[in-house]
Amino acid sequence: MKALITGASSGIGRDIAYYLASKGYDLILVARREDRLKEVQKKVSVNTKIIPMDLSIEKNVYKLYDMTKDENIDMLVNNAGFAVFGFTSKNDIDKEIQMMNVNINALYILTRLFLNDFIKRNSGYILNVGSSAGFLAGPKLNTYYATKNFVVKFTLGLYEELKHQKSNVHVSVLCPGPVETEFNKVGGGHFNVKALSSEYVAKYAIDKTLKNKYLIIPGITIKMALFFNRFLPYKLSLKVAYTIQDKKTR
Ligand SMILES: NC(=O)c1ccc[n+]([C@@H]2O[C@H](COP(=O)([O-])OP(=O)(O)OC[C@H]3O[C@@H](n4cnc5c(N)ncnc54)[C@H](OP(=O)(O)O)[C@@H]3O)[C@@H](O)[C@H]2O)c1
Repeated sequence: MKALITGASSGIGRDIAYYLASKGYDLILVARREDRLKEVQKKVSVNTKIIPMDLSIEKNVYKLYDMTKDENIDMLVNNAGFAVFGFTSKNDIDKEIQMMNVNINALYILTRLFLNDFIKRNSGYILNVGSSAGFLAGPKLNTYYATKNFVVKFTLGLYEELKHQKSNVHVSVLCPGPVETEFNKVGGGHFNVKALSSEYVAKYAIDKTLKNKYLIIPGITIKMALFFNRFLPYKLSLKVAYTIQDKKTR
């Protein structure tokens, strides 16, 4: 068994790498920071290849597929991603485009290319890391929330397509709330609520993926919050979201 994990140099991706290694998966690890990938490689006893790469550059994503398409990958984990906190009008446009390239385009291209190989073989898992943000609008973390809406809806739609195609390929989307990682440091924010550990989220996500669960939401608090949000009038939901996000940047 072999897994390709993007964003494996820290946080959820790194802990998914450790957990899959403990289950005997060989690994292909992708992120920009080579030293961090080497640290992960050193800590596991399975065969591990590291590919330092910037996934915000589209041609790199195609190159990554070319480098790995013959590796007989059983599981693709599209985890790389980041956020930019602040008012949309004040955020750096290039940074936000970079974020859309990583969070949406790289995930789309890798899913699309490996999907065809997996369909031909009639096996394989694709785990896309979305967010609870993928069900909501998120003022002051606006473009990030929009990218995660793409990830969630794209993966859920794909799940339904594969079911109707009677395929044995499984797609899942992971939708956590706050998780203790480098996410805030990178994005320029902080959480006001207790965050889950990335070890817990990684294990939960992989266990559910291997049980063919399509929608994976770790933690009862976020499950409840998403459930009750469905009944809020849209304007009130936006107000609540603004208040929560605003506090993260103060
Ligand atoms: N933490 C949370 O509260 C939370 C909640 C919901 C969803 N998520 C999602 O979980 C995923 C993982 O985030 P995390 O929380 O674990 O944050 P993290 O610790 O900052 O990890 C992000 C990973 O993405 C990689 N990455 C970022 N930009 C990249 C690029 N241009 N090219 C290649 N790799 C890149 C980073 O590696 P390099 O910097 O080495 O390139 C790192 O390995 C993200 O998709 C995030 O949106 C996080």
